Amino acid sequence: MKISDSMREAINEQIKAEFDSAYIYLAMSAYFKSSGLDGMAHWMKKQYKEEVEHAEKFIDYLYERGERVIIPDIAKPKESYSDALEVFKTAYAHEQYVTSRIYKLVDLAVSEKDYATQSMLKWFVDEQMEEEDNTGSIVAKFELLGNDKHSVYMIDRELASR
Ligand code: FEO
Repeated sequence: MKISDSMREAINEQIKAEFDSAYIYLAMSAYFKSSGLDGMAHWMKKQYKEEVEHAEKFIDYLYERGERVIIPDIAKPKESYSDALEVFKTAYAHEQYVTSRIYKLVDLAVSEKDYATQSMLKWFVDEQMEEEDNTGSIVAKFELLGNDKHSVYMIDRELASR
């Protein structure tokens, strides 16, 4: 059974959103690197790679369904931030936005009775819970420890082990 044109388009748009996410995190990594926060730069670089994997999962799904993939333009990400906490708050808000996008895809798959796409999206629903938890818990760490130089140094060291 073929997937609908609207579902193919929505998944192609999500492929773009995942690459945009990858670039946002790669730019965050570069910002941290230039700020001497190597642990945070490492964490964000890993996140960048995860986002590329997310895009590839959607690409492979379209291939599996015999559909055409459109390789998108990637939006230029924001380059600088006021401090590390602003970066992680931005990342957390971004993951909440991505979750809302995934839920819209699920809504579309349900409305179209597209069971195969619903099944594929289940992985992303679970993954988004983890993504929100990962970024949200770092914001919570800042709230607990404070946003002074000592706390930033400690969090940087911790994130180096991701
Ligand atoms: Fe691909 Fe961070 O969601």
